[in-house]
Amino acid sequence: MPTFLPLLVLVLLLHQQLTFAILTISIKGSKFFTSDGDQFYIKGVVYSPDAQEYNSLTNGAQCAIDAQLIANLGANVVRVYGVDPTLNHDECMKAFEDRGIYVVLGMTTPVYTVNRANPEWTIDLRNALAQVIDAFQAYDNTLAFFAGNEFINDQATSKVGPYAKAVAADMKAYRDLMQYRTIPIGYSAADVAEIRSQQQDYFSCGPANTSVDFYAFNRYSWCGSSSMAESGYNVLYEEADGYDIPIFLSETGCHVGDADRDFEDQVAMLGREMNDRYSGNIIYEWAQHENKYGLVSYDNDAATGTPSMMGDYTRLKSQWATLDPTGVKASAYSPSLTNRACPTSTSGGWLVQKNADLPTLGTSGLTAPTGSRSTTRASATSTTGGSAGSSATGFSSSLNNNNPSQPSKTPVGAIAGGVLGGLVVLALILGLILFLLRHKRKARAALESQEDGTANRPAGDLIPVTDEEEKIQQNGFYGPGYHELHGQGTMAELDPARGHAAAMPAAEMASHRGPVEAGIAGESEEERGEREGAPVQSRSGEERTVEPSPYVQAQRNMEMEWLESEEARLRQRRELLIRQNGGGS
Ligand SMILES: *[C@@H]1O[C@H](CO)[C@@H](O)[C@H](O)[C@H]1NC(C)=O
Repeated sequence: MPTFLPLLVLVLLLHQQLTFAILTISIKGSKFFTSDGDQFYIKGVVYSPDAQEYNSLTNGAQCAIDAQLIANLGANVVRVYGVDPTLNHDECMKAFEDRGIYVVLGMTTPVYTVNRANPEWTIDLRNALAQVIDAFQAYDNTLAFFAGNEFINDQATSKVGPYAKAVAADMKAYRDLMQYRTIPIGYSAADVAEIRSQQQDYFSCGPANTSVDFYAFNRYSWCGSSSMAESGYNVLYEEADGYDIPIFLSETGCHVGDADRDFEDQVAMLGREMNDRYSGNIIYEWAQHENKYGLVSYDNDAATGTPSMMGDYTRLKSQWATLDPTGVKASAYSPSLTNRACPTSTSGGWLVQKNADLPTLGTSGLTAPTGSRSTTRASATSTTGGSAGSSATGFSSSLNNNNPSQPSKTPVGAIAGGVLGGLVVLALILGLILFLLRHKRKARAALESQEDGTANRPAGDLIPVTDEEEKIQQNGFYGPGYHELHGQGTMAELDPARGHAAAMPAAEMASHRGPVEAGIAGESEEERGEREGAPVQSRSGEERTVEPSPYVQAQRNMEMEWLESEEARLRQRRELLIRQNGGGS
C-alpha cells in the first residue's frame, strides 16, 4: 500500500496539471500575458447560441458540446454579452476551462446598463454589476470584463463617454477593494468613423484608476477579398501606434450578403501586419441566426444538441491553424508607452470636454473583506450589498448560495487527518519535483529561443507566427482538439503574404457595412421582436423555477422599453446614414 501511494499522488498531480490548470491572463503595457509570461492573442468567437444573448452559460451539458467544437475550431476565447449572476455558471465555465478556452464577459444587460439616451450611473446599477464580478472572479478562465458595450454609437452619444468611464473606474475600484484577482476591465466600442480615434484615446487617457484596462471595438470592414488599405485596417494599425493599453476587435467578420467568408482578415490581424500592436479579435458569431453570421447551425431554436459545422467554420479553422503568433515574453518586454492625451472636444464632433469630471460613485457602501484575502477559489465570497442591498438590485438574493467559490466542508476525523497530512507532505514533495522539471524545461526552451534570436525582440518589432515546435511546446493547456491543428503550423512562415509588413498609404476608411450599428450583436429587427414576446427559456433545467423570477420580469419590462428606444435610435441612425451617403449605404 505505501509503495503505490506516491504513484497515485503523482498520477493525480499529473492529471491535474494536464487537464485542469488554465493559466490566468493579465496585462503588461499594451499586451496580454499568461501567468507563465507568454503573450496571449485572442482568437475568439461570440458565443450566444440561442439568440437571447444573455445567460448562455447555464447549460453545462450544452457548453461541453459547444466548448469541444469551439476548441476544435482553434479558438481560445468566447465572448458572452451578459449573464444573470444569480444563476449557476460552474459547469459551463469548467467545460470551457477544460478545453483551454477563456471567457470575455459583458457586465451589462439590457436591464442593467447605462441608457445612452438618458445616461445615469446609480448605486443600484453599480451594485448589480458588482455581482457579476463576484460571480465570475473565482474562475481562472475569466479573461476580462466589458464594463460596457457600444454605449456610444454615434457622434451625438459621445457625451455618454464619462458614464462609460465611470462604470469602468468604479468596477476596477470594487475589484481591488475586494482583493480579487486583477481581472482586466475594459470597454467594447462601436466603430463610429467620425470619432473613432477620439473615442479610442478617451478611454485610455487620464490616470490609471479612471481609464479602462484595455480597449476593444466592433469592426466590419474587411469584407470578402480585401486588403489593409481597402479595409482601412492600415488606419487602425496607425492609430494603435504607441497605444498604452491592449487593443483588439471585440466583434468582426464582415460578409457581403450571405456570401461565404474566407477570413483572410485573420492573416492581417494575427500575422505580421498587425500582431505587434493588436491582441487579436473575436469573430461574430458562433451560431447561425436570422442575420446569417453563424459558423454552425443548430436544428432547433433553443440551440441544443450537436450543431452542424458550416463552411465558414471550416474556412476559419483553416486560417487559424496557420496563425499562431508568439509575440514577446513578458520578461523581455519593457515598454515605454505614453498615456494618451484626452481628446479635444469639438462641436459636431467629440462632445466631451477635455477635463470633464466622471460621475464616479466610488465604493461607498460596499464592504471590504477584513484581513488579507487568499487568491484561491475556496476563500472568495461575495459581500456586495451596501446601502441598496442585493435584493434592491433586482437579482435574487440567492447569490451566495450559488457562489461557485464556496467549498464543501467535509468533517475529517483525527486519524484521517493524520493520513491526509502525510499525503499532503508527499504531494508537496512531488509537486516540487514536478515544478523543478517543468521549470528546467522552460528554462531550456527560453535559452533555445534566445539562441535563435526570438527572445529579445524589441516591443515595436514585427512578430512572426510561431513555428511548429514552439506551438507544440505551448499547447499544454489547450484541449485535445487543438492538437489536430498542428499539421499546418509551418505554412504561415513560408507564405510570403503572411510575412509582409504593412507599408501602405493611410487612406481614410469610411465603409461601415457590418451589423455593428444594430446596437448589440447585430441582431435583426425580427429577432428583437421575437425576443420581446418570447418566454425567457431556461436551458439549465432544474435551476430555474417555472414562475419567472423578479429578475426575469424586470428584464422583460425594461427590455421592452429598451427595444423601443433602440428602434427609434436605429431609425434615426439609418436616416442619418442615408442622408450622408446620398441614399446609398
Ligand atoms: C484616482 O486616484 C487619485 C489619486 O490617488 C484619487 O485622488 C482619485 O480620487 C482616484 N479616482 C477615482 C475615481 O477613484
